[in-house]
Amino acid sequence: MDSFGRTVDYLRISVTDRCNERCLYCMPEGYKGWKNTPDHLTSEQIVRVVRVAAGLGFRKFRLTGGEPLVRRDIVELALALTTIPGVERIGLSTNGTRLAALAAPLFEAGVRTANVSLDALDAALYRRITGGDVAQALAGIRASVAAGYERVKLNCVLMRGVNEGELWPLARFAAEHDLPLRVIELMPLSSSEVLTEANFFSIADAKRVFATHDELVAEAGHHLGWGPAKYFRLRRTGALVGFIGAMTTEHFCETCNKMRLTADGKIRPCLGDHGELDLRATLRHAPTDDAVRDVLKAALRAKPKEHSFNGQYSPCRPMTAIGG
Ligand code: GTP
Ligand code: 5AD
Ligand code: SF4
Repeated sequence: MDSFGRTVDYLRISVTDRCNERCLYCMPEGYKGWKNTPDHLTSEQIVRVVRVAAGLGFRKFRLTGGEPLVRRDIVELALALTTIPGVERIGLSTNGTRLAALAAPLFEAGVRTANVSLDALDAALYRRITGGDVAQALAGIRASVAAGYERVKLNCVLMRGVNEGELWPLARFAAEHDLPLRVIELMPLSSSEVLTEANFFSIADAKRVFATHDELVAEAGHHLGWGPAKYFRLRRTGALVGFIGAMTTEHFCETCNKMRLTADGKIRPCLGDHGELDLRATLRHAPTDDAVRDVLKAALRAKPKEHSFNGQYSPCRPMTAIGG
């Protein structure tokens, strides 16, 4: 439990800050953080952190990036993590473009759920937002459904004047394929210019778009994972839509249950707070796990009550190096 009485049992692990796409809301233009790849944790070090975290009561783990599937040993890493006692679930957050090849091996390694970014279905718009190919992401989504994943969820980051016209096509796609769609408020986690009042599209705005097509019914108590999404059903189309509104939702942080491990070995107690504790040095130099446990406990004590996005927050470590 943290200092505010929240049970924290979810660790998000960024396995790399590299990505094969270039979403501006995640990676600042010209970002070259990965030139410091030698700083990145090895698989053995990540496994050690997870073993200690599981011993402390962490139960849910998520592999993120950058794009986690660009890490060459991702399948071996997933396999090593799923066999650690205490690890109940390993989820994956991915842009999906490499899932066509990796969905089945990752499923065999024990991964059961995947969250796949899909900001647009329109190929030209998808390319404009991400620099990538929507056909690859869709092939990845199909492959994970075929591989037998229990849950494949679609993530759409909202941007006014960019993809609000995609919301209804995405909802229909979600209904047709029986995949939950989550819409996410843009957070200031790339460069300072990325989030402006002009391009911010709130959860309330998204609900208004859906309401022009269908009736939104709250699915109280519906949980599809461990994150902060609040789920609604579009009554006629049947689509399940999750809303993640860190910027406008009151009390958003009251139920926070997570901490983050960055690819370069920092523990970040809150996505929207610059505080971090260095675990890499401990992993390198401490022979026993007690010191690793102490850093995790100190991070838990340092976890702030809430994020600082609504103050003068300016991104320092960008999203691609935190993992969402
Ligand atoms: P599940 O509910 O288990 O599927 O996980 P999730 O929704 O937390 O995972 P995902 O990686 O798909 O994240 C979806 C979006 O929610 C991303 O934009 C994350 O940055 C955002 N998000 C997840 N957790 C938090 C959080 O604690 N705080 C904030 N501000 N945003 C979060
Ligand atoms: N604001 C909100 N969500 C973001 N993501 C990446 N950057 C941002 C941001 N600035 C989302 C991705 C992915 C998830 C892991 O985080 O789209 O779905
Ligand atoms: Fe938790 Fe920070 Fe996210 Fe709030 S912003 S929900 S405290 S990680």
